[in-house]
Amino acid sequence: MRRKLVVGNWKMHGSRAANAELLAALAAARPFAADVAVCVPCVFIGETAAQLAGSDIAWGAQDVSAHAQGAYTGEVSAAMLAEYGCRYAIVGHSERRQYHAESDALVAAKAQAALARAITPIVCVGETLAERDGGRTETVVTRQLGAVIAALGARAAQMVVAYEPVWAIGTGRTATPDQAQAVHAVLRAQLQAAGADAAGVRLLYGGSVKADNAVELFAMPDIDGGLIGGASLKAAEFTVICNAAR
Ligand code: PGA
Repeated sequence: MRRKLVVGNWKMHGSRAANAELLAALAAARPFAADVAVCVPCVFIGETAAQLAGSDIAWGAQDVSAHAQGAYTGEVSAAMLAEYGCRYAIVGHSERRQYHAESDALVAAKAQAALARAITPIVCVGETLAERDGGRTETVVTRQLGAVIAALGARAAQMVVAYEPVWAIGTGRTATPDQAQAVHAVLRAQLQAAGADAAGVRLLYGGSVKADNAVELFAMPDIDGGLIGGASLKAAEFTVICNAAR
């Protein structure tokens, strides 16, 4: 039985004052039946760690460098994130793939770098609307996940995968539970075929998950929780979503 996981992806939102308020509200809403985490902008990780220390809410980053250390201006290494207690790092979010030209190979290298420091990579995959309309959803997501499986080998079982159809992110247009489940089943089968202990890999759905659609999405057999963007910035709504996962 996979324990459900709900992760807030704050993206480039927040301020020290707003974060303190949001995290206090989340901490007060505990305990949750599922695992809960927030992936915050790097500059806020230290304060987030201090505020959540001792609670069962985990924290993480939204990206990680593929390099261990060195002359990589602007990059943050997995060792640095580990020093601040990060349990998760999102890698390959579609916004990174799109705006920062991240390739499948780079995403795989980032997943490797995270795992090398015992940080669980949350590997994002997902098709654009044009790819879905062109009947290429399965081809695209299996190519994206395949690169990571190839790089991680047996350690692929230690990652979390997030299926995030690009057309559903921040658009208010969510995939139906059946659409999401269909892709999750494909990803689960791919993990199984690769020999990873696929039964234990948590597959999250992301893309306009809200308080009013979380229950039906999380009820699908291969959806093990969610990666939540906009709705994770509102304490009351994020709490409802966290409580929908059980
Ligand atoms: P959204 O974002 O919930 O705002 O659609 C999800 C994500 O990009 O992780």
